[in-house]
Amino acid sequence: MFDLHGKTALITGAGQGVGAGVARVLAAQGAGVAVNDIDKDRAEETAQAIREAGGTAYALPFDVTDLDAVLDAVRGFERKAAPVDVLVNNAGNAGAGAFRPTPFRQSDPADWRRFTEVNLFGVMNCAKAVLDGMAARGHGRIVTIASGSGVIGQAIGVSLYAAAKGGAIAFMRHLAIENAADGITANTIALGLIDPAASGREANHTREMAARLPVGRIGVPDDPAALCAYLASDEASWITGQTLHLNGGSYTS
Ligand SMILES: NC(=O)c1ccc[n+]([C@@H]2O[C@H](COP(=O)([O-])OP(=O)(O)OC[C@H]3O[C@@H](n4cnc5c(N)ncnc54)[C@H](O)[C@@H]3O)[C@@H](O)[C@H]2O)c1
Repeated sequence: MFDLHGKTALITGAGQGVGAGVARVLAAQGAGVAVNDIDKDRAEETAQAIREAGGTAYALPFDVTDLDAVLDAVRGFERKAAPVDVLVNNAGNAGAGAFRPTPFRQSDPADWRRFTEVNLFGVMNCAKAVLDGMAARGHGRIVTIASGSGVIGQAIGVSLYAAAKGGAIAFMRHLAIENAADGITANTIALGLIDPAASGREANHTREMAARLPVGRIGVPDDPAALCAYLASDEASWITGQTLHLNGGSYTS
């Protein structure tokens, strides 16, 4: 895969599921990783597992929706450890089975804000924390894990989630344009269904869902992690502002 030695990557929401997979794979490629999660114990667990496998990892718990907390944590980490070369915005309040699908007409307005806070503002807060440093160094990689639902309408009851993910996709496109001249790339992964077992959730109906996908299987965290390793690499300097659909072959446009 791609050589990430000498790079430092911050992965948000990496205490379990997709984020933990991304942290593990980036560390295996040689990156030092800052493992963020709102849940301190989970962040430490992922970091510990990476260290036991011979990698370099630090737990960096904070809530991505709290800008002051994000700025404090990232500044402290950069002072004590290393500048962040790669940011993977993975923290989100939804993966398969993470919430009960609710049509918009039945939705609680408090949830409109809740979905937007983590899936869109969380991305902005973390980008804000790393961008000035990346621009000063003339190099940076930002990857956001969004969802196919941010681009296409398919499932019923995910409009709040889709709106926030769609906002993140649009934000990332413009981040790419604004920062390309400073050597910073910004790309988004519009992710399809990942095995809920990776997040400790029940794997209901996954066999039927897998059968509907051209490749015949649902995803595992290593699938988005491999794409993150590429997007984080020096070789990926000519890809920016893109939304890459990673979903086992579902038609998306
Ligand atoms: N799993 C899927 O099928 C799937 C599909 C499409 C997109 N995604 C996206 O991929 C990302 C990861 O999904 P997952 O299924 O691994 O999720 P998950 O729920 O298993 O893990 C998310 C992690 O983020 C942490 N987190 C939540 N809010 C946070 C906050 N405010 N600050 C810091 N950490 C926070 C949680 O504690 C948790 O450990 C999410 O953005 C999700 O929307 C997942």
